[in-house]
Amino acid sequence: MQLLILGANSDVAEAVARKFAQEEKANIYLASRDLGLLEKQARDLEIRAQVKAQALSFDALDYAAHAAFYQSLDPKPDGVLVAFGYLGDQPRAQEDFAEARRIIDTNFLGAVSILEIVAQDFARRGHGFIVGLSSVAGERGRQSNYIYGAAKGALSIYLGGLRNRLHQHGVRVLTVLPGFIRTKMTEHLDLPEKLLAEPAEVAADIYAAYKKGKDIIYTKWLWRWIMAIIKAIPETVFKRLKL
Ligand SMILES: NC(=O)c1ccc[n+]([C@@H]2O[C@H](COP(=O)([O-])OP(=O)(O)OC[C@H]3O[C@@H](n4cnc5c(N)ncnc54)[C@H](OP(=O)(O)O)[C@@H]3O)[C@@H](O)[C@H]2O)c1
Repeated sequence: MQLLILGANSDVAEAVARKFAQEEKANIYLASRDLGLLEKQARDLEIRAQVKAQALSFDALDYAAHAAFYQSLDPKPDGVLVAFGYLGDQPRAQEDFAEARRIIDTNFLGAVSILEIVAQDFARRGHGFIVGLSSVAGERGRQSNYIYGAAKGALSIYLGGLRNRLHQHGVRVLTVLPGFIRTKMTEHLDLPEKLLAEPAEVAADIYAAYKKGKDIIYTKWLWRWIMAIIKAIPETVFKRLKL
């Protein structure tokens, strides 16, 4: 198996790379912006899991370069993980459109741009799987992070449509809806310890969902129930909550 990981310097992506290398002996393309870090990760994977790992330069925001980036891959991947993401700063995004735009462009448009290219190739080959890291933040708009939430909500809808389109071609799309994960993205936040997942736990959930051919997963699993409750709160009540 050849796996392409986009945003491979993400802590979750690193754990997923390790999991697929160990369990599937997958060879891995590690693609992101910080090539130095990727090279270290690639050497580590090769030594520990005895697989081939290659570091590649990829910027989710450089849409014009995506087709050439994908074209350059030889062999073509059997699976793609979209892990890049940008939490951003909600109060800043309310005052500075550039910040709002960076959040939307990174989490949503970057994924659309590269995944349409991947989808075309996978559909033609009648083969492949796509895993997209979205978020429970995309399930309901909240004052504390609605720009990021809107971008992830759009990503979830997009992944749903892509799954619907690619099903007839034998290509699977897995939407991952994490709650809180202990990574560099959240290290500045004060989050409830009981709800925090470790990257390795999320990677194990993703791998299990891949093996079972699931469409959508929450990780940790209890977020399914937390979000069911949050989504059931009437808007007239919800708008008064400081969430
Ligand atoms: N942590 C959480 O609690 C949480 C919860 C729900 C969903 N998620 C989602 O899960 C995914 C992984 O999150 P994480 O916590 O592992 O994040 P992380 O450790 O902060 O990593 C995010 C990665 O995204 C990459 N990235 C950002 N902008 C990019 C761009 N323009 N082009 C290419 N790469 C870019 C960065 O790569 P470089 O280092 O190469 O710049 C960074 O390593 C993200 O999509 C995130 O939104 C996270």
